[in-house]
Amino acid sequence: MEAALNPLAKALLWSAFCLVPAAVAQESAMRKADFGRDVVPILLERCLGCHQESKAKGRYRMDSVAQLRLAGTSGEVPVVPGDPGASSWMHWITSQDPEERMPKDGAPLTADEIERIRSWIQGGAVMEGKSADAALSAWLPRGAGGVAPVAYRHPVPIAALTFSGDGSELAVGAFREVLVVETLGGGLKRRLPGLPDRITALDWSPDGASLAVAAGSPGRQGEAVLLHASDGTLRAWLRGGADVLTAVRFSPDGSRIAVGGADGVVSVHDAASGTRRVALPPHSDWVLSLAWSGDGKRLVSASRDRTVRVADAASGEAVSSFTEHGAVVFAAEFNVDAGRVVSSGKDRRLRVWEVAGSDSKTVASFGDAELTSMVSVPDGFLTAGTDGVVRRHSWKSVQKPREFRSAGRATAVAWTSVGERVAGGFQDGWIRIWTAGEAASVSEFRPFPGIR
Ligand code: HEC
Repeated sequence: MEAALNPLAKALLWSAFCLVPAAVAQESAMRKADFGRDVVPILLERCLGCHQESKAKGRYRMDSVAQLRLAGTSGEVPVVPGDPGASSWMHWITSQDPEERMPKDGAPLTADEIERIRSWIQGGAVMEGKSADAALSAWLPRGAGGVAPVAYRHPVPIAALTFSGDGSELAVGAFREVLVVETLGGGLKRRLPGLPDRITALDWSPDGASLAVAAGSPGRQGEAVLLHASDGTLRAWLRGGADVLTAVRFSPDGSRIAVGGADGVVSVHDAASGTRRVALPPHSDWVLSLAWSGDGKRLVSASRDRTVRVADAASGEAVSSFTEHGAVVFAAEFNVDAGRVVSSGKDRRLRVWEVAGSDSKTVASFGDAELTSMVSVPDGFLTAGTDGVVRRHSWKSVQKPREFRSAGRATAVAWTSVGERVAGGFQDGWIRIWTAGEAASVSEFRPFPGIR
């Protein structure tokens, strides 16, 4: 992912991103505060964790508009349209008493956040256009991430790639959008726009209906969402904040989604509602990849903090931590019974270790190649190498993979059992698809509109 981009590609990406914030800031100062755009993101990120069905502190809930209008234990009206002074929200978020102030036990809202809420209440606290019972995230504006190019002038490095359940389509992370293309030939089928600048991870749900997306811009903004795969509309909001989200994975049965971010946090969400169920002990640096065990009980996370961690996905408790790479760890996957993990790091080593142990059982290296991305396949796993080779390793002989050779740097891999196909994404924007058995080329294309 990040680490796989060369300095030139990074500079190009950054120059494109840096034009955005000034324009956005100016615009929001001029417009009247809007519930979905200005208020809901604050509530989702800073309040909802303690005020929803499963956890209603002060017997107050905010999971829908109908709920947030009703007073909790205090009996004070939370929001009085047109009158911030009479609205209990303003009292709770501006209180000088840290014992009392909301978010309870957290950093206070910023002056800008408080002003957005105040100005929205002052303007009449308008909450129109959706059913009052809809989840709060339904109010989030789609398309707020910026406009995707009609025609691309430069290809985008492929950081995220995932097959549809039936193998016929491939979703690709582009600039501010996800492109859905035909596996055979790469014909563009649809564009799912309205996302943050960079798409860092994608996962198609096992039932084929939804796409989980992690995206954002480092140090600025991030968002993890669940979209309807058919038209890109929002199904559920998972997580957002002031830094990029970097990893997203459905549990094998599709009932939960794990999300990882540059803040080091791995959270597990209910796939139907997007509600956060648990957070794992955080890494001290970016989470770079996540994977579930086949039984859905455990999660493994690889991080820039040089560790790989295994945790219980239900309780969030740490199970084990592996530090032998001594360098940034790009990716990790479990074997079939989840007794072993394979991980790859900036030390240019692929290491297989036991969850119960702390040392490498097998170490493999492939010249100078860094293996920056990984995904499980039956009896083994795929890796993407900076030497341009996509490899299919079997657990029996990790050192002797089948090779899918190409030029450039491989930055992403995907697998579909339908027809047993391997997809590789490359830094120069190419996507190549092979048959897993004979390593025969099936198709090769760049998916971006305007780029041949
Ligand atoms: C870490 C948990 C937590 C977070 C996050 C949190 N709250 Fe609370 N909230 C509480 C608790 C606990 C109470 C009960 C009152 C108390 O103990 O101070 C409460 C009470 C309230 C009440 C009073 C309900 C009533 O009528 O009695 C309001 C309103 C409220 N919170 C709003 C917010 C808002 C707005 C945010 C986000 C900016 C927020 N809360 C974030 C824990 C939290």
